[in-house]
Amino acid sequence: MHKNKTNKVLDSKLDSVSIALKRSIKNLDSYTHVRGESLYVDDINIRQGTFHAVVFDSPKAHGKIKRIDYSKAEALEGVERIFTYKDIPGENEIGGIIPDEPLFAEDEVHFWGMPIALIVAESEFIARKARQLIAIEIEELPVITTAKEAKAKGNFINAPRSFSLGDTEKAFQDCKYVFEGETFSNGQEHLYIEAQGAYAEPLENGNIKITSSTQGPTSVQKTIAHVLGIAMHKIEVDVTRLGGGFGGKEDQATPWAVMAALATYHLNQSVKLILNRHDDLRMTGKRHPYESTYKIGLSKDLKILAYQTEFLQNSGAAADLSPAIAERTLFHATNSYYVPNVTTKVISCKTNLPPNTAFRGFGGPQGMFVIESAIAKAAHEIGVSTRQIQEVNLLDENDTFSYGQIAKKVEAKNTWNSAKNIFNSEALEQDVKDFNKNNKAFKKGLAFMPITFGISFTNTPMNHARALVHIYLDGSIGISTAAVEMGQGVNTKMMQIAADVFSVSIEKIKIESTNTTRVANTSPSAASSTADLNGKATLMACNSLLERLKTVASQDLNVSESSICLKDECVYVNDKKSELLWTALISSAMLKRVALSENAHYATPEIHFDKTKEKGHPFAYHVYGTAITTTTIDCIRGTYEFDYVKIVHDYGKSMSEGIDLGQVEGALIQGIGWMTMEEIAYNKDGKLLSNALSTYKIPDIFSVPKIVEVIPVETEGNDMAILKSKAVGEPPLMYGIGAYFALQNAIKAFNSKYELEFHAPMTPEKVLMSLYKK
Ligand code: MTE
Ligand code: HPA
Ligand code: MOS
Repeated sequence: MHKNKTNKVLDSKLDSVSIALKRSIKNLDSYTHVRGESLYVDDINIRQGTFHAVVFDSPKAHGKIKRIDYSKAEALEGVERIFTYKDIPGENEIGGIIPDEPLFAEDEVHFWGMPIALIVAESEFIARKARQLIAIEIEELPVITTAKEAKAKGNFINAPRSFSLGDTEKAFQDCKYVFEGETFSNGQEHLYIEAQGAYAEPLENGNIKITSSTQGPTSVQKTIAHVLGIAMHKIEVDVTRLGGGFGGKEDQATPWAVMAALATYHLNQSVKLILNRHDDLRMTGKRHPYESTYKIGLSKDLKILAYQTEFLQNSGAAADLSPAIAERTLFHATNSYYVPNVTTKVISCKTNLPPNTAFRGFGGPQGMFVIESAIAKAAHEIGVSTRQIQEVNLLDENDTFSYGQIAKKVEAKNTWNSAKNIFNSEALEQDVKDFNKNNKAFKKGLAFMPITFGISFTNTPMNHARALVHIYLDGSIGISTAAVEMGQGVNTKMMQIAADVFSVSIEKIKIESTNTTRVANTSPSAASSTADLNGKATLMACNSLLERLKTVASQDLNVSESSICLKDECVYVNDKKSELLWTALISSAMLKRVALSENAHYATPEIHFDKTKEKGHPFAYHVYGTAITTTTIDCIRGTYEFDYVKIVHDYGKSMSEGIDLGQVEGALIQGIGWMTMEEIAYNKDGKLLSNALSTYKIPDIFSVPKIVEVIPVETEGNDMAILKSKAVGEPPLMYGIGAYFALQNAIKAFNSKYELEFHAPMTPEKVLMSLYKK
């Protein structure tokens, strides 16, 4: 993709900061990825005699199980055993936040695809064949598929949450303009390339080792122990890497690992369970669809004085991570704007869909879509451009968020103004106007999309991590952390930190698998915080080792410790190279019996949140940015292309430009997909209709914007971020929201009668109908 020359200029500035990081480093995994040598769960060499498992799941969305006949399936040659809830020695309960989710259905089913039994056989083929032989009778109960229906029937996951700032009711009375409306944003399928899976092996004494494709090894360990009724130390969870997670494996990698472990527990034999794509699509939850209402009030000079919303979250049949996701919707309800009077409310509605779950942005995108819709509606009605309203309301230093945190080191205006200047947005807007004047059958639309995203797990106690660093006696280094590599490049960043502290080449460093026996009690790799949390722990461990090594060197060279530094695998004294090499230094430390292993714990300082008041300082810092998106619609067909997305993004001081640019590009495209083409469909019986890649379309190389340009904003960086390199995993997804509003503007240019609708995704069919709607 297009990379602007301006990057080079800013890069050279970034390189002048103190850290001698190789900012152009490639993702460690790229070599084995392109050679097809990277290992995933399905690639593990399995033990002789390993069984293969397939899940038998509910063919109805809601009902009472009247009868299940397993006899024919059990009689099939090669079937070892079929496990149900009756075989669970501990608790049939896997809910992480609220204990409301069984591993296997008992006498009721709550969603289409709900696991009922595990068929274990000599081969996957046989297990699948056996699945077809199971007969089930279900007495159907009413099915709820939308949040609105659930609300009407009083079906909720938990109590609603509400944030407020100022006096919203009073403020509406002072507004020159007040507008109200409704929005809908649909769910989104994660479509990680590697489907869910796990491999369980029996060890001695009833211990079990699980290789899982999970973002959260500790939750897998904890849940297996809970379901099996045994202690956590009997369970070892190991993760090499994921073929993508995107939040879909934060909680929902767990059931498959538990099922494999349950079978291993009973059979004392290895069991492999890998979902195929159909099973994965049907049985797992997705991004939450939201139905929302808003009310926005503005002064005559377009200041947003009051904002009120109610978010209805379609949570699915069990809580999963819904309460935490709902909370983040409230945190991001005002996006990049300062609004002095805010009342937001979110209701997690229980429906008969698979429990919806974490997805890049974690409820934040759903919240931001609503305020962007409200602003677009206000602009449309007042007759000004959306950009004007956005611009005068951008967040400033020391503004207060609705949750009480004071905004510091704010880059909202900086990224906005930089985007305007660097990309010459006036000329871009003029181009669109000229084009629309001169073309009838094609129309262009442009939209600005600012983003502000809070970094930290919103649940303060989760913000910690550990690292275990060994220097081996030959001077090579092994690092274990809680970080799970899922394509985001976190392993490369961990390696850079150690390489930087010890000043050794990256060939000397190995990043170990993520394993609960080496690093315990971890939070999942999520919330974009993995590099910050685990990187800070790695930095602490490496620095402790460095101090010890300096003592050794000062003794060996008979100089003061303060005169010593390590550079390019040599000891330097007062910046002069000495005879003492890194490897000799390590040998010397061994002879002196100095510990060459270190474990460090990092917990984010300063953050706190009081749920009884809904106020606090939950985020270590915020990430900012602004995108300008332009689309061209073919007004005969309703099809469209994105001409470009031009972004000024707040990386802080990026550690790895290539990796971080990849994160921005990937997240942007995923956001555009959510807003424009990815259409999840369930029928009224709760059956997933978009159950294959022929019926669920994600962006491909032909539908990505023709140009994606990403410029780092000039910034001080933030010390709460690892080496001042800000978290980058989720925030850029929300640039994709700009695609929706660019399309709306293009439709308006064609159809002056068009009344704005906020109902994402804006598929070509919807675009076509909107073009001709009167
Ligand atoms: N990038 C790739 N390639 N694959 C992924 O699964 N997950 C995203 C993001 N980027 C993901 C990704 C999500 S949802 C999160 S929270 C972060 O990466 C997690 O990693 P981080 O904390 O290291 O940014
Ligand atoms: N983000 C992602 N995952 C989470 C969070 C969060 O803020 N809180 C709990 N799990
Ligand atoms: Mo990301 S949704 O926090 O895994």
